[in-house]
Amino acid sequence: MSSHAPTSLETIVALCKRRGFVYPSAEIYGGINGMYDFGHLGTLLKENIRKAWLRSLESDRGDIVRLEGSLIGPEAMWKASGHVEGFHDPLVDCKKCKRRFRADDINLEKPCSNCGNKDWTEVRAFNMMFKTNLGALEDASATAYLRPETAQAMYVNFKNIMTTSRVKIPFGLAQMGKAFRNEITPKQFLFRMREFEQMEMQWFCQENNAPHELNAWVEQRLEFYKTIGINLHKLRKREQTPEERAHYSTRCFDIEYEFPFGWKELEGIAHRGNFDLTQHTNHSGKELAVFDESTKSSYIPHVVECSVGTDRLFLTLLFDAYHEDLIEGETRVVLKLAPSIAPIKIAFLPLSKQFYEQTEKIYKEFKNYGINVEIDTSGSIGKRYRRQDEIGTPFCVTFDFESEQDRAVTIRHRDTTKQKRISIDNLATYFKEKL
Ligand code: GAP
Repeated sequence: MSSHAPTSLETIVALCKRRGFVYPSAEIYGGINGMYDFGHLGTLLKENIRKAWLRSLESDRGDIVRLEGSLIGPEAMWKASGHVEGFHDPLVDCKKCKRRFRADDINLEKPCSNCGNKDWTEVRAFNMMFKTNLGALEDASATAYLRPETAQAMYVNFKNIMTTSRVKIPFGLAQMGKAFRNEITPKQFLFRMREFEQMEMQWFCQENNAPHELNAWVEQRLEFYKTIGINLHKLRKREQTPEERAHYSTRCFDIEYEFPFGWKELEGIAHRGNFDLTQHTNHSGKELAVFDESTKSSYIPHVVECSVGTDRLFLTLLFDAYHEDLIEGETRVVLKLAPSIAPIKIAFLPLSKQFYEQTEKIYKEFKNYGINVEIDTSGSIGKRYRRQDEIGTPFCVTFDFESEQDRAVTIRHRDTTKQKRISIDNLATYFKEKL
């Protein structure tokens, strides 16, 4: 058996469409650039990513609590955070064909890739925030913005959390949810979208501990990617240069993945200083400092933030898991996803209709345990295996003509294609261990 990694983004896009992971948003109206809808398998996969992320933060520790903030925030909040003033990308137009580009995506010394002319406008700052108005008023007091990061809700709720969750510095605040950026050039499928999801954790700590916490979180996040099965040779950490850093961060490490289009940021881990809490203190007039019993003085905590895009991680997992194997002269596509991430954990395959009832009984048992399983009845057994391989199902269980007599089934392993006969009574114990 031989195996090789994927070659192109198109391969992944086609697989996502073919198998119902991801569709272009509003496709029957021509789609909308930078937005995608997730189908059944995509939804399950995303749910598993969120669960894995939460588990990685919450396991055996009680110092990380949760928040679900609103998606829209008042202008005053986004002014305080610096996003109205500073959340810009450099924009440039081709004067001839009017095509727009992110200036840092192209070489301005070269002609336009669309029309071949070299006649650029000045580079301008383009604010990526989606602006809206609340209610019927169109004056400044009603101006609001869709959040471009989930983080701000965690800063403006800092005092609420401290007083209601019985946490003490240091502690973490974790949040998952949508973010919106009016990207000039959304591209590379789920890599750069206009509507996407983030999983962010703010670690509030004392200033003198922040450098150590920053390094510790970078290592913890790398460990997380290991636990969800990502090839560590395709991951690296890289410190951002001062020019690359966002307006709020004093140091920032990117965890990068080697995509077919180069090494790119998967997760950012930033020391945001006490920039955000200080800004919100000054702009809202509300005290966001905490009292330190040991020094009998107040201080504004520092923040180390871990931030990863759920959709970007989704894409990373697909690239990483995609393999083409040669089995007995035939190529098969297989997603070698970790069982915790795979959308379907077990597919039950009755060899003929007469075994459906028996299969369904066991299928329901597993469903009741809360495990995502499915019954696959269409096509030859070979075809069903290929379909399950392509969606990353780690195990297939076949009910055959002997199952009724010997109360046993055949388990087939996705990665090795090896098969094993096992008693039906031992199935639950077997999968409890494997999953
Ligand atoms: N709160 C910090 C923050 O938002 P960021 O580096 O701008 O920092 C964090 O974004 C993560 O969100 C990125 O590492 C990436 O995984 C994801 N992300 C950012 N912009 C994205 C986009 N347009 N489409 C998909 N994911 C995006």
